[in-house]
Amino acid sequence: MHENSMKSYNVTPWSVEGEVDYDKLVRQFGTKYIDDNILEYFRKFTGEINFFVRRNFFFCHRDLDWIFKKYEEGEKFYLYTGRGPSGKVHIGHLLPWFFTKYLQDKFSVPLLFQVTDDEKFLYRDELSLLNVESMTYDNLLDIVAVGFDHEKTQILIDTKGIKELYRIAIKIAKSITLSTIKAVFGFTDSTNIGMIFFPSIQAAPCFLYSEMLGKRVPCLIPAAIDQDNFWRMTRDVAEKLGYYKPAQIHSKFLPALGKEGKMSSSLPETAIYTTDSPEDVRRKVKNAFTGGQPTVEEQRKRGGNPYICPVYFYEQYFFEKDDKKLEEIRQDCLSGKLLCGEHKNGLATKIVAFLTDFQSKREKAKNVVEKYLFDPQRKVFL
Ligand code: TRP
Repeated sequence: MHENSMKSYNVTPWSVEGEVDYDKLVRQFGTKYIDDNILEYFRKFTGEINFFVRRNFFFCHRDLDWIFKKYEEGEKFYLYTGRGPSGKVHIGHLLPWFFTKYLQDKFSVPLLFQVTDDEKFLYRDELSLLNVESMTYDNLLDIVAVGFDHEKTQILIDTKGIKELYRIAIKIAKSITLSTIKAVFGFTDSTNIGMIFFPSIQAAPCFLYSEMLGKRVPCLIPAAIDQDNFWRMTRDVAEKLGYYKPAQIHSKFLPALGKEGKMSSSLPETAIYTTDSPEDVRRKVKNAFTGGQPTVEEQRKRGGNPYICPVYFYEQYFFEKDDKKLEEIRQDCLSGKLLCGEHKNGLATKIVAFLTDFQSKREKAKNVVEKYLFDPQRKVFL
């Protein structure tokens, strides 16, 4: 089966525009919704249904049932995720990383975390290698602050760890043609040739531990769905190269506080960065778009619309962990009992509390970053 048949692009690894129709993406990309079978596996292995799955933030997958079946049979997988260090990290980036940490803890499996400094240098005209380097260090603090188990985690920065990836990347590159790459990523004749090669670098970690251990090792990628183009491409060549196809579990995007679309670093007032001060948070949340009515009277009379409201989405996807409380918020919003101003205050308080804790972890990360960096001698499969 050929999975590279997507033609219309509203979501690519480099841009997510407009209101995202996730059902359409599932059809276009050919992924599967998380069904009862998957939920049953989660219950069996983790004793619960994780928040992000329950709230449908991680909502579709490829071969997750296969990964679980292998795990059941005693064949451990590893997790692979990554970050392109093009700017500061915002809360939207953190969500998939927290889920990745959860999976690492519950399944006790290694994590390979790729930092694609090369990708961001190649893709962003305005970024020099020096800019990307300083962003890389800055972003590493966020990654480490998530709390991954350093004994089971390797962070591979492309420009530093390329030696480990290169042999795999050229094998991948050799089996993919320019016309395939153009169709998958929407590249054109004016795309620089670094970008043309880059997808083989992002694909390589899917096979790295197989190479290092000298046997096929299942790989599970938790990531936002915009990265899927890479995985379709990788899956198409995997078996031919003697590897398992990498499996995925895909998340949605945390919406921006302003208009529709995912939280974006190009609109700083609509994203909450991990380094934001309490004043920044309160100001940004105060100015957020909501699903509310223009006046208090109308809100009381007609109620708000939580289904288009970023303030509600923040609660749903991260800040209100208690299902009962979330349901109360939803009801009170719909009935007009809860005003947007009140709701914003409540959310801002939760975000500030979260960031205070995260920022202290981020400070401490400065002392331990080194321990996480990729080292081929360090054994992460225990
Ligand atoms: N391309 C991703 C970005 O721009 C970074 C990345 C590399 C990644 N490997 C990954 C993301 C694996 C998720 C999973 O941020």
